[in-house]
Amino acid sequence: MSERTIVLGSRNVKKIREVAELLAPAGFRVVPVTEFPDVPEVIEDGDTFAANAAKKATEVAVALNQWVIGEDSGLCVDALKGAPGIYSARYSGEGATDEKNNEKLLCEMSDVPDERRGAGYVCSVALSSPSGEVRIAVEGTCRGRVTREARGDGGFGYDPYFLIPEFHRTFAELSVLVKHTLSHRARAFSLFVPQLRKISAEFD
Ligand code: IMP
Repeated sequence: MSERTIVLGSRNVKKIREVAELLAPAGFRVVPVTEFPDVPEVIEDGDTFAANAAKKATEVAVALNQWVIGEDSGLCVDALKGAPGIYSARYSGEGATDEKNNEKLLCEMSDVPDERRGAGYVCSVALSSPSGEVRIAVEGTCRGRVTREARGDGGFGYDPYFLIPEFHRTFAELSVLVKHTLSHRARAFSLFVPQLRKISAEFD
């Protein structure tokens, strides 16, 4: 099987690694947009994950005149009416880090009882043609619960607090293999890959 290269419009190192691992078995090698320093940063001002994924894909595709994947994801907490949602990466404001975001999340949820701590990760993925046309748009979700204490050191972002009740483990405790089966990103890419395979004949 010959390997195809495809650009990913993301600057999040851990997310890039996950997407690369999800696409490698399908024969696609991911090149992050960070390898093209002249491409301007995309302003994520869409009001849905899907709109932001499409924006990341189309703006980078047009800038590079190449096929580009855009991915936007986040955590939607039931008791917080879906927050942090599309603001997951910058939940704690200017200079946000995973640690500060988690601190804010726990603080906002300090009064939420155990039975109301349900949440869902969402991942939207889009593929843009070099001219900026969205050719594939899919979304995957994964339900879990927000814990009160961090557990595990794998994954990234909110993973140490995101418990999969069936496994009694957080995403940060589960192996990469299991996260790549269950996660919102894995589910989105399982819908994306068959469509990407069909379209990839147009890449040459
Ligand atoms: P984006 O890069 O703008 O899509 O923001 C993604 C943000 O959502 C990350 O910075 C994390 O805070 C959160 N997030 C998305 N997917 C995951 C995941 O798989 N694990 C943990 N946090 C995630």
